[in-house]
Amino acid sequence: MNQKIVILTGAGISAESGIPTFRDSGGLWENEPVNIVATPEGFEAEPKRVITFYDNLRKSVQKCEPNAAHRAIAKLEEKFGDDFLLITQNVDDLHQRAGSKRVIPMHGELLKVRCFNDHVIPCKENQPEKCPQCGAKMRPHIVWFGEVPLEMERIQEALMQCNLFAYIGTSGVVYPAAGFRQIAKRAGARVVCLNLERVANGDEFIQGKAGDIVPKWVDSLNG
Ligand code: OAD
Repeated sequence: MNQKIVILTGAGISAESGIPTFRDSGGLWENEPVNIVATPEGFEAEPKRVITFYDNLRKSVQKCEPNAAHRAIAKLEEKFGDDFLLITQNVDDLHQRAGSKRVIPMHGELLKVRCFNDHVIPCKENQPEKCPQCGAKMRPHIVWFGEVPLEMERIQEALMQCNLFAYIGTSGVVYPAAGFRQIAKRAGARVVCLNLERVANGDEFIQGKAGDIVPKWVDSLNG
């Protein structure tokens, strides 16, 4: 049977590119109240603050570059083609800039905004006030707490069919992504964690910085 690979990434894979994670010391949630900048209720209560937070993040992310881990994952996709799927919780575009194409940004994309009629438009600078297509109010194209992540059906299907599932640079505390390892395991897949810290017991664990360990791990799969 063909090797079918699904990879899930989190903020840890972009840390060495200079983008802070969420929950580590100095992380994004240390300086900003999550209930304001990452919930629909927060946006309703303090829209300007939320828009400014994402406008600033959008600008700073564009100054960062993909690192060796992003590039290694793109290389893996080249080899496995349609037997490969990357799911990322990250809203930066570093995987895409490294060359990944079969990628599902399940928590949305910082470089897009959408209106309340669901028009999604690219955005590199400040969020426009009104939708250029219909004039409706705009919001960041980010999945906030309490909202349903994107493309869940496609993700579920890929997890049920994979025989290798790896999760990289994620603390594994935010569902539904935190449950993907169990879905893959129940489907019979080998499950590997690549991270600075062990996230769950019972999975193969490769400890270290993503930029060091991911390229080596990818080479071991190729070879
Ligand atoms: P977290 O900040 O919760 O976890 C980052 C993980 O990466 C931790 O386990 C770190 O130990 C690890 N890490 C840090 N630096 C690393 C490095 N150089 N190499 C490897 N691992 C490293 O980030 P996520 O798990 O991605 O949602 O958080 C999940 C979701 O929570 C995010 O997508 C975000 C947030 O709410 C939204 O914004 C919608």
